[in-house]
Amino acid sequence: MSENIVTRFQNIIAPVITWDSEIEIVSGEGSWLTAADGRKYLDFSTGIAVSNLGHRPAHVKAAIQDQLDRFWHVGGVFRYDPLVRAAERLDEITPPSIDMFFFMNSGAEAVEGAVKLARKTSGRQGIVVFRGGFHGRTMGAVSYTTSKAKYRQGYHPLVGSIFVTPYPHPYRWGMSQEEANAHALAELHLMLKHEITPGEIAAFLVEPMQGEGGYYPGSQAFMDALRAICDEHGILLIMDEVQTGFGRTGDWFTSLVYNVRPDILVMGKAIANGLPLSAVGASKALLEQWPAGSHGTTFGGNPLCCAAAAATVEALHDVVPNVEKLSDHAFDRFGELKESHRTIGDVRGLGLMIGVELVGDDRAPDPAAFQAVTDYAKDAGLFILGCGPDFNVIRFIPPLNVSTDELDRGIDIIDEALTSYES
Ligand SMILES: Cc1ncc(COP(=O)(O)O)c(C=O)c1O
Repeated sequence: MSENIVTRFQNIIAPVITWDSEIEIVSGEGSWLTAADGRKYLDFSTGIAVSNLGHRPAHVKAAIQDQLDRFWHVGGVFRYDPLVRAAERLDEITPPSIDMFFFMNSGAEAVEGAVKLARKTSGRQGIVVFRGGFHGRTMGAVSYTTSKAKYRQGYHPLVGSIFVTPYPHPYRWGMSQEEANAHALAELHLMLKHEITPGEIAAFLVEPMQGEGGYYPGSQAFMDALRAICDEHGILLIMDEVQTGFGRTGDWFTSLVYNVRPDILVMGKAIANGLPLSAVGASKALLEQWPAGSHGTTFGGNPLCCAAAAATVEALHDVVPNVEKLSDHAFDRFGELKESHRTIGDVRGLGLMIGVELVGDDRAPDPAAFQAVTDYAKDAGLFILGCGPDFNVIRFIPPLNVSTDELDRGIDIIDEALTSYES
């Protein structure tokens, strides 16, 4: 560790933003990070589902270096090829309903843009969101976020006309997926009867698999039902794929896994494998109704970030087809671990977005188990993150080009950590 990094950090970096570790990283390569003291860590945090290609993938690095020698910023003033190139690459991989794009800097900003687009073009103001959803921290995005009440605490009044309805959480509710879907849909219909008429709703804003909220796949039936309600009432379906996109769940987007048509698709995180960029996609017909100048940005679509995004998509073409095989292997292994560890209550997810929920008796969330497992893992050279309102769910998100050996190494460490906790 370089001299006094922790003290220097504490003296000058605002504590409101929390960091998972005090370890100072000095370099990264593939699935690995090197700390200032020379220790190597298998990075299954992927910068919170960002470095889907691992650290410094060669093709992306070359694209950034090429753009670095040309120009860095002319945004909002001049036209430039990397912006169009990135959009063209996105057009190749996004669902068929999406064929026009605009770029922002972060997931939250893209969510804000998507909601503004929906409100302005529909002339309706209501936004329906799903309990446990996470959409970011800006004033609007935090108003749509219900993964933890703490994120909203102290910031009221929030943005108005937001309506919260349950997202199916079968394990937590002690229900089958079918029962949980039926319960969530019954509540949604009650909301449409008692709180807001469908004709006043601009959009449903939903993650096709909840991330921060606890790694709950939305399920085919629930997503189909949301699409049907939107179609019946002329409501726009905004899919927030900031965390689930770019191959994470086994196809380019989870909307494609479920074959559910988004009207508006929100992308971020892995889009440029670590450079700050986000994007919103929709149909040309919808985006051409949004009056020019009704939204804007200085940095969104930065040339370096767009060059990185185009190259990220190009490189992912060789990687995404392998995710299913790696996923099957990981689910097999976690299934075995569930048999041998009483602390594992549930293993769920899609692709390489896997939640392992740690519990005590009667499914009671066990955040102490999660803490013990991550501490053990860190000492053994593995970085993992948590999620869920009780912070008792291991979020297992290795790079998508992880080797089977690395994947097994990570799961072996979790196995040892659970053995140590349970003994
Ligand atoms: C589904 C989802 N939407 C939006 C966001 C916000 O993204 P950002 O932190 O880049 O603003 C996140 C971040 O975790 C997310 O997971």
